[in-house]
Amino acid sequence: MRLRGRKSMKEDLERQTDLIVFEPRKLKGRWNEFFDNDRPIHIECGMGKGQFISRWSVNNPDINYIGMDMYDELLSRASEKARAFWKKERNSEVVPNLALVRGNVEFLEEMFEEGELERIYLNFSDPWPKSKHGKRRLTHPRFLMKYKQALNEVGEIHFKTDSLSLFEFSLNSFSDVELQMRNISLDLHRSGIREDLVLTEYEAKFIGQGKPIYRLEAVIGDKVREEHRRRVADELEKQLSRGTSKDFESEEE
Ligand SMILES: C[S@@+](CC[C@H](N)C(=O)[O-])C[C@H]1O[C@@H](n2cnc3c(N)ncnc32)[C@H](O)[C@@H]1O
Repeated sequence: MRLRGRKSMKEDLERQTDLIVFEPRKLKGRWNEFFDNDRPIHIECGMGKGQFISRWSVNNPDINYIGMDMYDELLSRASEKARAFWKKERNSEVVPNLALVRGNVEFLEEMFEEGELERIYLNFSDPWPKSKHGKRRLTHPRFLMKYKQALNEVGEIHFKTDSLSLFEFSLNSFSDVELQMRNISLDLHRSGIREDLVLTEYEAKFIGQGKPIYRLEAVIGDKVREEHRRRVADELEKQLSRGTSKDFESEEE
């Protein structure tokens, strides 16, 4: 009974060639053909049931989105969600800017050409708490090297988690491969839900339990690194020109 259920789910997914991708390696360097345009591509590695990536796809039709996970069941849930969002909010029978990919992040470089992606989201990645499993964490330096290669000159990684130990591990990993981090938060929603960010299924659950959410952005591409460096330098200069050395002396007293 269970096997038949799985078989019909697989058949159903295989029919959805506009949305589901079972052989991502065949699209390496040609994702623009799948989407039929050259817009930037943002991917969520480990999308789960797809709430986050479906919601972004409806919110931003000018970006192409990819949700990747390893299980048919999750692809099926994500496709139902994406189609329902597009129907309800844009009265559209099609989901033009989303691909739901069955794939393992382990093989990212076999699915994407150098610089083919603009942003990678890592949301609530499995923490793999035992140190002997450290290499499986999606923020292990060996994964970060894959992301670096796949991202373009304005490439960024946006990472959020409820796991303090994974966050700590990740700060070290990002720093070890010399990635510039910014907007680091140890309690993302401390003053209410951040409206500019989309919640994932896990995030909604953890917020409900009163847990803090840790988040950071890493800037990869040369162009975005330079922009960030310039913004920080300008801000510092403004602050220094506003304050006189007298201000600093009086604060010390
Ligand atoms: C804890 S869930 C988080 C799901 C979703 N991002 C969220 O925040 O609600 C982690 C997901 O990552 C997927 N995952 C873990 N390792 C993966 C890998 N190497 N490649 C693709 N997906 C992976 C799992 O199957 C699971 O669905």
